[in-house]
Formats: sequence, structure tokens, C-alpha cells
Amino acid sequence: MNIAVVILAAGKGDRMESAIPKVMHPLGQAPLLIHALRAGQALNPARTIVVTGHDAENVAHTARQFHHSVECIRQAEQLGTGHAVAQARNTLSNFDGDVVVLYADTPLICPESLQRMIEARAQHDVVVLGFHSHEPSKYGRLVMAGHSLERIVEYKDANTHEKSITYCNSGLLVCEKDRLFELIEDVENTNAANEYYLTDIIAQARSRGLRCTAVTCAEDEVLGINNREELGKAERLFQSQKRSNAAQKGALLIAPDTVFFSFDTEIEHDAVIEPYVVFGPGVTVQSGATIRSFSHVEGAEIRPGCTVGPYARIRSHTTLNDNVRIGNFVELKNAEIARDAKINHLSYIGDANIGEAANIGAGTITCNYDGVMKHHTIIGKEAFIGSNTMLVAPVEVGDNAITASNTVVTRNVEPDALAIGRSKLTVHKNGARKLRNRLIAKHHKHPTQSNECAE
Ligand code: UD1
Ligand code: CA
Repeated sequence: MNIAVVILAAGKGDRMESAIPKVMHPLGQAPLLIHALRAGQALNPARTIVVTGHDAENVAHTARQFHHSVECIRQAEQLGTGHAVAQARNTLSNFDGDVVVLYADTPLICPESLQRMIEARAQHDVVVLGFHSHEPSKYGRLVMAGHSLERIVEYKDANTHEKSITYCNSGLLVCEKDRLFELIEDVENTNAANEYYLTDIIAQARSRGLRCTAVTCAEDEVLGINNREELGKAERLFQSQKRSNAAQKGALLIAPDTVFFSFDTEIEHDAVIEPYVVFGPGVTVQSGATIRSFSHVEGAEIRPGCTVGPYARIRSHTTLNDNVRIGNFVELKNAEIARDAKINHLSYIGDANIGEAANIGAGTITCNYDGVMKHHTIIGKEAFIGSNTMLVAPVEVGDNAITASNTVVTRNVEPDALAIGRSKLTVHKNGARKLRNRLIAKHHKHPTQSNECAE
């Protein structure tokens, strides 16, 4: 079946009390809109259309960043969800197939539910996604006659009896394209909100004898976000979903409630995530890798057998190849670390390639920024970088080379070479004893001058 996904994202979202349009608020570190786009993508649609309105340019930019094929159309005035869908009519004039309407403020939707809607379409003209709720609050209510959906009544327009219905509208629906636009054409705005409700197409369809039904999903999956509180609730649901997905895939989360994921975090089987770890966008933790407590990881591929942390910070464009060890208070950015390399303590490695089995001593810093430009550092395989080495980039240290501790490396070090750059050490025989005796004598002569007596 040919599918076009239409995502409604034009609303401002007044109830968010924010300068940012609702659909740009983050959930799992990605705008709500991205979640809707990802859900739609799972249907492998021929077309994806986002209806923009408030802050249209920004919203369209985000949509196109998700995928360049996403088409954005503008709803100049927000006259209701039916009016929003109608904006896609011309854009879809040469499309044949079904339209799936998604709301960008409903981000937790599972692809399986969309699939079930599409299956139900085989027997019905319009299929909506519904859910049962103990606290249906302001959702539209589904008025059923057996399996037939007769109409949807918006909360604002519902009478007391209708308000007592606990079967609710998620907003998502699927219908054949030409039929959908025909039905919308007859929708009027004579209601409490003076809006063209998409939900009114059900009554239109039934009056023409068309078959309408609802497919049911879990309430948590279709939480509609209208205010900050609901956004907070969605974040909690999202995190708990990601935690249980990771566990189902065979990862070990020692204290799941203390681990925070991004929308795209991938954790493979037998990975171990210790308590208090935060994942920013773009992270893959492959099988058998361990992320130790209090680490912050983003934009990184962590291959099998690696250990990261405790207290590590991994930033974007970083790859840790097999069995790499990253220890406490190490920051990495834009770094490719070859297999078996170790960076165990207190280091900054940015814009760098570290060779296989290289050992980076405590306090090593790649001085990558000269105040104007960033420069690259290359460390060869099995190189030994002594503690407190400053690598002034651009610079290269060859395979098996050694830098002595406290060396400032300002030019390339060839393979197998030893680089030492520090001031000469002088040791005075018995100097400590002589110094101490001198100080003690001074103290006895002028006791009040000593620090020991000072208050
Ligand atoms: C809508 C449904 C309601 C359902 C609920 C589920 C209608 C009339 N009502 O109500 O039955 O229970 O969602 O969450 O559809 N939008 C536009 N242009 C507009 C108006 C809205 O693009 O002119 C977009 C919004 O940005 C939002 C979505 O459509 O992403 C839903 O709009 P919203 O105003 O939140 O609808 P609800 O009142 O929640
Ligand atoms: Ca809503």
C-alpha cells in the first residue's frame, strides 16, 4: 500500500507558556516533531509532509534535517486540525494511496499501532487510533456503535453524557487520500472553538454510509502534550520505555532509574551501564562494553569490550575501538581511539587519532585550539605518552615513540624516538637535612615569627 504521512505541526501550543513552538520542545533530547517523523518513517511512506505554521522556518528546517525528502507546507492561520490537513491537498494531488495523519504533539506512538491501523483499513474507510482512559480529561471522545465509530465529539462540545465516555481519540487516523479531502471539504467550524475539526470527518463519513472504526492502543503511547506537565510526564514515560528496551535487548542497567537516554541511543546485548549515566544524542554502546558511573556520553560509537569512566565525558564524533579503556576525568572530543589504547586518568584528547595499544599518561592534553583554529594530533600505535605531556597541535608522535613526563611536544616525534622537553633537575646531596636544620634554628631564634604560632 502506498502511504503518505501528514504530520500536523503548525500550532503554537499556548498552554506550553513558551516562546518556542510546542513541536520544537525536546523529548529524549530531540524535538517532539522528530519523534513523529521517526514514527511515520517506520511505515516506509512514499511521501512525508509536515504542516508548519508557528515559527514555520525553524520547524521546516528541523524536518528537512531529519530527511531531505520531507516536504513542508505552511498553514498560514491555525484554523483547526481539519484545516491543517486540507493544506496538503495540492501537494498530494499526484499521489495515490492512503494518508496517515500524525500529530506532532503525540510523540510516543509505536510503529506497531500504526501498522494495526493500516491493517484495519482493509475493512474500513476511516480508521482512528483510540485508547481507554480513567481520566479522559480534555481528549475528544469516540462514540461507538459496536465496532462502528459513529462520530468523535470534542471535549469542548461534549454534553455530560458524552464527557462520561472513556474511549478517547488519539488524533491519529488513516484514510484513502481522495476520500479524506472530500470529507474534510464538508467540515464546518460551527463549534465551541470555531475550528475546522479533523475529527468531524467521522460523522461526515457515516452520513455517507462509509465504514469507520477505531483501533485501540495503550494510553501512555498516545499521550498528547499540551503543557509542561504533560511534557514532563512524556519524558518519564520515554525514559522508562528506553530502559526496558535496553534490558529486553540484553543490556544490564544496574540502576535503571538513574540512566538517561536520548531518542536514538542504542545499547547492545551484554553492555553494562552502571548507575548515573547520561547519554546525549548519537550514541551506540556495542556488546560487552561497560559505561561506569557518572559518565556523560554523546556522539560516540563505543565498540565491544571498551570500558568508559567512572566520571568520563565523551563528546561528539568519537569512536572507541575494541577494548579501549577510558578512565576517570577524561574528556574526549572528535577522537578516533584505536583498539586496546588506554587513556586512564585526567586527560583531554580532542581532534586526535590515537594508535592501537597506545598508552596515554595522566594529565595528557592535546592543545588543539590556538584561539583561532582547531588542529589535529596523531599518536602512533604502542606509543607511550608520559604523564602531563602537552601535545601542541598540529603534531604527530610516531609508532612506539615515548614522550617523557612533563614534555611539551611542539614538533613531530618520529617512530621509536624519545622526546624529553623539560628543565634539568638538580639534586643537592643532604640538601633536605641542611634546609630543615636551618629552618629549625631560625624558628628557635624568633619563635613568634613562625607560622606555627601565628593565629
Ligand atoms: C486533538 C483532537 C482530539 C484528540 C487530541 C489528542 C481535534 C479537533 N481534536 O485535540 O480529539 O483527543 O488531539 O491529543 O483534532 N495543529 C495544526 N493546525 C491547527 C491546529 C492544530 O497544525 O490549526 C496541530 C498542532 O500543532 C498539534 C496537533 O495539530 O500538533 C493537535 O492540535 P491540538 O490543538 O493540540 O489538538 P487537541 O486540542 O489536543
Ligand atoms: Ca494536543
